[in-house]
Amino acid sequence: MGHGKLIKFAQNETFSCLLQPSSQELLADGYFNLRDHSVKGRWVDFFKDAVNPGSLVLELGCGKGEYTIDLACRNPQSCYVGVDIKGARLWKGAKYATENKLANVGFLRTRIEFINAFFAKGEVDRIWLTFSDPQLKSENSRLTSPMFLERYRKFLKPGGVIHLKTDSRFLHEYTKAVCEVNGFEVLACTSDLYGDSGAQLEPEVREVKTFYEKMSLKQGFKITYMAFRIDGEEPIVKPSDPAQFDSKLWRSLEEPRHFFGQTE
Ligand SMILES: C[S@@+](CC[C@H](N)C(=O)[O-])C[C@H]1O[C@@H](n2cnc3c(N)ncnc32)[C@H](O)[C@@H]1O
Repeated sequence: MGHGKLIKFAQNETFSCLLQPSSQELLADGYFNLRDHSVKGRWVDFFKDAVNPGSLVLELGCGKGEYTIDLACRNPQSCYVGVDIKGARLWKGAKYATENKLANVGFLRTRIEFINAFFAKGEVDRIWLTFSDPQLKSENSRLTSPMFLERYRKFLKPGGVIHLKTDSRFLHEYTKAVCEVNGFEVLACTSDLYGDSGAQLEPEVREVKTFYEKMSLKQGFKITYMAFRIDGEEPIVKPSDPAQFDSKLWRSLEEPRHFFGQTE
């Protein structure tokens, strides 16, 4: 591991806005049997210095956390938690939040697979999924797959909204299909966020851009956006028929991205 990363990891230990529980702390016995973290149901205490500790917004896969920070600065009446597994990326957001004394920003280093160990029923108002890996081959690893949506449903407030911003047409079309087969309410959907159809959306959807988004825009990729609700009791099902979602077609249309001097 590089020296720079080691310094970031050491600094991460000092940031009170960053929670980084170990896997061992969470795994009671086996991968699927999670032990609840002490913050679950107690985010109000975590955000005790914020204007409104009871309003919680998550960004899942937040990377360096710029989106979490920007949204939090625009909306001081809500609290924002950026979640990612990469400590060196979270370091940037946690350092900024610490140095700027942002009382409504927190970061959580964990696998999103473990998310139910951290949030209690009805504790979260909305979720942002920003440039999630499309996981072309592994549906169950996709952050909008039924397996993940079932997890989110356990802690989203009734009527809570999920926002998906992505440059992957594959992930966008897949998520649309999941909404369609499950009868979910879609509040907004555009395959070209910065084209005319995105103009009526809340300003923050277009005005705030993530790190990855800026890189993607520079390479000429279109950004898509969806907002939807997953209320209901019925089990969430996959789009199983190519008429619902043609995974082969959309996969074949995905183009490689070239970031950080490598292909992502
Ligand atoms: C393509 S990057 C996007 C980062 C950021 N949202 C942006 O737009 O700049 C995807 C991020 O999701 C994180 N990620 C992907 N799958 C994850 C998982 N299962 N649990 C936690 N983090 C995950 C990665 O570590 C990475 O930082």
